[in-house]
Amino acid sequence: MEYGKEIKKVLVCKERIAERVRELGEQISRDYEGESITLVCTLRGGCVFFADLIRAVRGDVEIDFIAVSSYGAGTKTSGEVKMVKDLSEPIKGKNIIVVEDIIDTGVTLSYLKKLLEAREPKSLKICSLLDKPSRRKVEFEGDYIGFEIENEYVVGYGLDFNQKMRHYPDVCVLAPEVYGG
Ligand code: IMP
Repeated sequence: MEYGKEIKKVLVCKERIAERVRELGEQISRDYEGESITLVCTLRGGCVFFADLIRAVRGDVEIDFIAVSSYGAGTKTSGEVKMVKDLSEPIKGKNIIVVEDIIDTGVTLSYLKKLLEAREPKSLKICSLLDKPSRRKVEFEGDYIGFEIENEYVVGYGLDFNQKMRHYPDVCVLAPEVYGG
């Protein structure tokens, strides 16, 4: 796809994403062989990755949705997290995999993990398409990671800038002029 001047470059193209999603689906299918899994989509950023990933996982799968938001707009989070939409089903005794777009400071997922662990699932793992380890404010590690990336603000494939550009098919680096970086 041709992008405008808001995009500095394509970081991970849709073909590479598709290949990695297939691999992650295969790995999850093997790790949970003979078990049922509930895949939890974190709205809104995780939605595109989630839709692809669930179709790459074999076996007994249920899906659910949760939305947490870190306050703040633009490219910075404030460190405060709130629940916007809770899961539809209880998770006690279930194998849960939370599917996220990106682990950045780690604040959102460490909050979410604590919140879900209190509900006593059988297991709880985190699958994130992207990981920016250099940006951590709290110690946090995902269990399944698509791509480790540098400290650049990315959009597309579910990720936004002020709620725009989520529909771009590739993961792209936002031009710094757009956010004054
Ligand atoms: P956290 O900083 O790990 O808590 O990440 C919080 C949320 O910030 C992520 O789930 C994303 O929605 C958003 N985020 C962090 N980095 C980026 C980025 O580079 N592009 C778009 N959204 C991001």
